[in-house]
Amino acid sequence: MLSLNSHPSGRHFLQIPGPSPVPDRILRAMSLPTIDHRGPEFAQLGMRVLSGIGKIFKTVHPVIIYPASGTGAWEAALCNTLSPGDTVLMYETGHFASLWQKMATKLGLATELLGGDRKDDHLPHAASWRYGVDADAIEQRLRRDVQRTIRAVCIVHNETSTGVTSDVASVRRAIDAAGHPALLMVDTISGLASADYQHDAWGVDVAISGSQKGLMLPPGISFNALSPRALEATRSATLPRAYWDWNEIVATNRDGYWPSTPNTNLLYGLAESVDMLLSEGLDHVFARHQRWGAAVRAAVRAWGLPIQCADERLYSPVLTGVLTPPGVDANALRHLIHERFDLSLGTGLGKMSGRMFRMGHLGDSNDLTLIAMVAGVEMGMQMAGISLDGSGVHAAMAHFV
Ligand SMILES: Cc1ncc(COP(=O)(O)O)c(C=O)c1O
Repeated sequence: MLSLNSHPSGRHFLQIPGPSPVPDRILRAMSLPTIDHRGPEFAQLGMRVLSGIGKIFKTVHPVIIYPASGTGAWEAALCNTLSPGDTVLMYETGHFASLWQKMATKLGLATELLGGDRKDDHLPHAASWRYGVDADAIEQRLRRDVQRTIRAVCIVHNETSTGVTSDVASVRRAIDAAGHPALLMVDTISGLASADYQHDAWGVDVAISGSQKGLMLPPGISFNALSPRALEATRSATLPRAYWDWNEIVATNRDGYWPSTPNTNLLYGLAESVDMLLSEGLDHVFARHQRWGAAVRAAVRAWGLPIQCADERLYSPVLTGVLTPPGVDANALRHLIHERFDLSLGTGLGKMSGRMFRMGHLGDSNDLTLIAMVAGVEMGMQMAGISLDGSGVHAAMAHFV
């Protein structure tokens, strides 16, 4: 018998926490003809995106735009500022924090990892990575570093693998309270443009972000937002760097160009995205994501399932991680939901594989697309025979009206 969904119709529900659904307005902007990236017309586009993206990061300092995924910008942050053997203090909030640490090790840096697991007795099955960064632990470690060997503190603003945010400003305060000169590097790949991020006000030296999350663009662009101290650090940093070198890019950016070929059509999309975000107003954008997150969490609570983030002050406005009951394979559930309802949910990553799924509430969404996601998950769980306390759909609807 043919599956009811063997010919999906209507739009696919892309509810993973990035790449996020791209608004038609951005898709149309990207369909413009590709132009000469060394011609006069291009410089206008270059200047427009460079000045616009600074407003999104809330910085007056340079922002580097790479035709690369976020991983490239992680590498760029490290190799522009550090030297082989330098110590970096990293904080394991989840899968992406641990991937960044593995990369730092591969690059020849000495990494120290704080955080990690804090088992939760009250859960039916112990879960990992449920908390954000502990700024006090960072401050204590920096105070003990009397030789000042730690060169950078690296944290993830919004852990996309779990749906847990971290208080970036508290980490800057911790570094300052310890009187430590370490650079502060922040991965805001999934935070930027969905959760408040204030590069200059929070004293971040290097931020890393990507196009495919809050900016609502396809994958393919990543960013480093810099501070004057970060640029200063490039003078003494000796890790090998060529393509990623900030200085050459900053120099050519002054006229609106790049040293190598930029991804022109994604830049058209970026210009449109910045216009959309700024004309809505960033505070409104953030409030909209908070509201969506609260509705999805109301649904999860009504189902009676645990939310991966154990600290409600740190709930992500971007995604919600949901723990499946013991014995229920979260990946089998995701496959069933995808097959039957053409709805993609985020998989559990690393240690959480098979134990949780992630519901994205970012990108080109609205109240009704989110209700549809909640309904798809609820029906899928019913089909999988999972016993639920109540209706998440009703709870989410009640949140919206
Ligand atoms: C927080 C975070 N850091 C890093 C990455 C890696 O970025 P990319 O997959 O674009 O290389 C991701 C990707 O989802 C992410 O969410």
